[in-house]
Amino acid sequence: MKRHLISAADLTRDDAVLILDTAEEMARVADRPIKKLPTLRGRTVVNLFFEDSTRTRISFEAAAKRLSADVINFSAKGSSVSKGESLKDTALTLEAMGADAVVIRHHASGAPYRLANSGWIDGAVVNAGDGTHEHPTQALLDAFTMRRRLVGRDAGIGQDLSGRRITIVGDVLHSRVARSNVHLLTTLGAEVTLVAPPTLVPVGVESWPCEVSYDLDAVLPKSDAVMMLRVQRERMNAAFFPTEREYARRYGLNGDRMAKMPEHAVVMHPGPMNRGMEITAEVADSDRCTAVEQVANGVSTRMAVLYLLLGGSEPAVTLNNARTEENK
Ligand code: NCD
Repeated sequence: MKRHLISAADLTRDDAVLILDTAEEMARVADRPIKKLPTLRGRTVVNLFFEDSTRTRISFEAAAKRLSADVINFSAKGSSVSKGESLKDTALTLEAMGADAVVIRHHASGAPYRLANSGWIDGAVVNAGDGTHEHPTQALLDAFTMRRRLVGRDAGIGQDLSGRRITIVGDVLHSRVARSNVHLLTTLGAEVTLVAPPTLVPVGVESWPCEVSYDLDAVLPKSDAVMMLRVQRERMNAAFFPTEREYARRYGLNGDRMAKMPEHAVVMHPGPMNRGMEITAEVADSDRCTAVEQVANGVSTRMAVLYLLLGGSEPAVTLNNARTEENK
């Protein structure tokens, strides 16, 4: 595996399966009364968030803490960034504090790449979402969730998602989640179809390794998982569709549409959800929707990523079992 995690496209099939298998080991820790491993004791993880986040920031914080790392949370609001401090000066400050890993979310596509290749910091850089570009740990936790649901928790170990049909629906244009998922899911052998209004399909999509459809009802019966994307109003500077009702009617998932999916198929959403827009409350709250499960799986997946990037060459859980017992 590379030293940083900037793009899902940087992961080979074996890297991705290793992360998913390690995440499965980490998930076992979550089932214990003491949810902590001493693996990253003495290491410092900085969460550097220039853009709003609920799930991703909390999830990285929980992941680092469960591995016993020291965690520093930095959010641009209320920091010297509002006084105009540059990414470089912020990075140099973190370096002076001895950050072993920097988890960065930024409104500018490419900011994590810049940080990783600047020489400003020595630590590993993890992209927690950059502009409309990528969100690789979201794709990994999504793949983890799909492997568990579609292949099985134990049966999934060592396996990829070969032959599974995944449909990603909605605001693909502004979605870093969609981009990272297209890369990762195809690396894992899945067949991906994007469904969106023509105005929300990115230019150049022909070169992406996936199909594009404008007919949700035709694709649903052939899907093993349907991932609904949030309509990202904060990134829209024009009218991309006539009205919310019209969007919901053509591209929203409601109970009638969900009934067209095969019985085993799941509905996914990265959150935050616009209930009534891309997904109805009935679907969001149904057993087939994995949104809450995805959040829980996010912690295990990010534990795996931090563990592997910060130099875990030995099995994380088995190695530390004895010491964890001692600590009880
Ligand atoms: C996504 C994001 O921030 O890119 N959310 C998340 O990380 N859970 C998707 C979104 O904001 O719609």
